[in-house]
Amino acid sequence: MENEGRRKFLGVCVAGATAAAAVAAGYPVFRYLAPRSGQGGAAKLVIPAGELKEGDAKFFEFAGSSAVLIKTKSGELVALSAVCTHLGCIVQWVKEKQQFQCPCHGGQFSTDGTVLGGPPPRPLAKIPLTVTEGNITIG
Ligand code: FES
Repeated sequence: MENEGRRKFLGVCVAGATAAAAVAAGYPVFRYLAPRSGQGGAAKLVIPAGELKEGDAKFFEFAGSSAVLIKTKSGELVALSAVCTHLGCIVQWVKEKQQFQCPCHGGQFSTDGTVLGGPPPRPLAKIPLTVTEGNITIG
């Protein structure tokens, strides 16, 4: 009788420790994969137009999420969300190809956010911008 109680107690302890270890191991993975919330970060951002050369991209935080400003080789300015529309990884700019690539599953996007390949179901979200007196205002 006493052994049975001890066995139950040990079983509960082992189950609790296993559950705590699973949560501790899984939380960093969840944080990495989960899209960032819309909290924090500037809702409007001003970047001097001279900061960006043709063919370059500049990443920044916008409204609590990663975003990117591109100046195409033809001089057009485009601001996009840098959050991949597949599972939320942050895309990377590949200057040689003039396109974005997602490091997670190989999604590819053009300079205007259009999906060129891979699993992303939608284009990158566009962010409005205006250019006045040498400044680019995003948002
Ligand atoms: S998260 Fe970008 S391709 Fe999967």
